[in-house]
Amino acid sequence: MFAEEKSIQLKIEHLTKSYALKSGFFDRQKGTIKAVDDVSFTVRNGEIFGLVGESGCGKTTTGRLILRVLEPNGGDIMWYNNPGEPVNLCRLSNKKMRPFRQKMQMIFQDPYSSLDPRMTVMQIVGEPLRAGRKIPMREYKARIADALNFVRLHPEMMNRYPHAFSGGQRQRIGIARALITKPDLVVADEPVSALDVSVQAQILNLLQELQSALNLTMIFIAHDLSVIRHICDTVAVMYLGRLVEVADRTLFFQTPRHPYSEMLFDAVPGLKNRKANEHMSKNFMNDETLCPSGCLFFSRCRYKQALCREQAPTLKAVSPGHNVACHFDLELKGI
Ligand SMILES: Nc1ncnc2c1ncn2[C@@H]1O[C@H](COP(=O)(O)OP(=O)(O)O)[C@@H](O)[C@H]1O
Ligand SMILES: [Mg+2]
Repeated sequence: MFAEEKSIQLKIEHLTKSYALKSGFFDRQKGTIKAVDDVSFTVRNGEIFGLVGESGCGKTTTGRLILRVLEPNGGDIMWYNNPGEPVNLCRLSNKKMRPFRQKMQMIFQDPYSSLDPRMTVMQIVGEPLRAGRKIPMREYKARIADALNFVRLHPEMMNRYPHAFSGGQRQRIGIARALITKPDLVVADEPVSALDVSVQAQILNLLQELQSALNLTMIFIAHDLSVIRHICDTVAVMYLGRLVEVADRTLFFQTPRHPYSEMLFDAVPGLKNRKANEHMSKNFMNDETLCPSGCLFFSRCRYKQALCREQAPTLKAVSPGHNVACHFDLELKGI
């Protein structure tokens, strides 16, 4: 038990974030949207934790809450120091949070919009260092050169501007920026979605290599399973702000137990249905009138029964290492 506890890096408990839903010229508030709704999960030290779900389901919000770029409405984020007691990041003042900010970084989805075109590569990659203690120029440059070497970019490139680089190279710059503070945790938010298919594999391989070389703990966000299955140790499936299935990779890919996960599987071969799925998700997005007290997936589920309309299922263990939020998970036909 103790050994198991020791290897935890992060424990998220009941994390919640709502936004005001506004409309019309006067931005009148029409209600609230729960972007992240009572989400709990555990990330182990040195693992790649995959968070997957259609666009708009709350993945980016979850990542930004964990890094405390966004303030949650509720919940706890326990950070396990080694050694020492876990720290609740949600209870830290900005000042107390500062040392933790160096330990956790983000890799962004779009390497075109996430790199400031007016800054040189040196300024971009070095930016997280400037938020910490002051370091002499020579060391600053040496650290940037190291980080660029890490991602297989030539250090001489540090005086150039982002426009001189291809999409894949830009994402390498983004990765160098995330790694320069030697973080323990990296949130990679769809790091290959905006890239050409031909360079996606290169960036994924690089991330995997760096993760194992640096023993990084990584939360890897994706909107479909094709990427997740190659890289993640644990898979968490998110639907309209909630986790519907969390499982070890092998268990998940052998027997997905949630009807929504099954749908994500259907979309994988050739990724033909991806656009259709994204479209569908928007139509149903947080429309709680569909089934106010029951399962959020009710309207799209092909296994639904009367109980699902009345009662929302909670995430429960169906076997060791496999948690599912579905009343009828045993009905799934299998892939
Ligand atoms: N700043 C914001 N204001 C209002 N709504 C937001 C804001 N950011 C995100 N949302 C809403 O929260 C939900 C989750 O968004 P997001 O976390 O970006 O999803 P994902 O990353 O899975 O695509 C979406 O419905 C989105 O429209
Ligand atoms: Mg996102």
